[in-house]
Amino acid sequence: MSPLRIKVPLLVDLVIVSDPEQIRRIEATGDVDRLHVFESASLPWWVRYFFRATKFHDDKRDLWFCPFESASNPTYPGRRAYLEQKVEEGYTPGDVKTIADLLIANVDDETLSQAMVQVVNRRFFGQEIPPPITKAAKNTLQKLGEAILPWKYKRAIQSREKIMEFCERTLEKQVHILDVGHNIGEVVQATTGALRRLKENLDRPIEETFTRYGPTDQVPRIATRASKLDGLLRFSTTPRQTVVILKVAKAAAISHDLYFTFGTGKPERACVFMPFFLAFMKDLQAELQRRR
Ligand code: HEM
Repeated sequence: MSPLRIKVPLLVDLVIVSDPEQIRRIEATGDVDRLHVFESASLPWWVRYFFRATKFHDDKRDLWFCPFESASNPTYPGRRAYLEQKVEEGYTPGDVKTIADLLIANVDDETLSQAMVQVVNRRFFGQEIPPPITKAAKNTLQKLGEAILPWKYKRAIQSREKIMEFCERTLEKQVHILDVGHNIGEVVQATTGALRRLKENLDRPIEETFTRYGPTDQVPRIATRASKLDGLLRFSTTPRQTVVILKVAKAAAISHDLYFTFGTGKPERACVFMPFFLAFMKDLQAELQRRR
């Protein structure tokens, strides 16, 4: 089946793909790249409008989260290396026990998020992340449809700004504040739900649970050339205009490949957090099984 194309002249041009092989083929063409391969100001208007209300982009400071940078961006290797090094500091048996205690006690999402945010993000700040920051992090937009609700949109911008101000105030000067600020939101919006999935699937292998339920639904790319994407499209893409949405969670469910849960089906540019996530979930599963 061909990818879905949604084209409204002068407004949007979207290609939506969920087949694992087609996703791999599209990435291999080299005819699409990360959104910020182009200057922010020259991106399609709806891209700028939506992403400034998400955890991925700060329009005020013109910052984008690491996966939105082309590999050709000179800042990319250093930023990835910094995040990798921080994530490799790992976690303690005490961290696993704390989260197991909270899951067993069936605490609410806010309490669980607050604890998990410390496990993942304290390392960047050298201090606890205050509850109002964690609370704000749940309000950035996750779906395009939410951008039409004015109160949700306004609240999303305000909460992103609150997180950025905290990062600016607290992090060492050379650290990319959005690369770190994003991770608070990611834990609140994705990892906390994943902890509950684990608890509901205590006897299932981790690989199976997290390919069935990928916490990241989709990732975007933008056309850099006029291309039929390896023959998958009837009409060519328009550079700078056509946005390709790769539905990675669906691809993970079809292929049972964790590289789709954490990327686009290959180790290159896979999520920095993937090894931490899988190791932590395995240890947590063993702890919950032991105390069942
Ligand atoms: C359940 C939690 C998470 C999931 C499911 C997830 C998923 C993903 C996915 C699908 C990508 C690929 C994006 C793309 O191809 O455009 C990605 C990239 C990335 N993720 Fe995560 N992520 C999670 C949490 C985190 C956390 C907590 C961090 C940081 C501590 C993080 C850091 C990164 C980085 C830096 C990249 C970019 C890698 C690169 O482009 O080289 N992720 N993640």
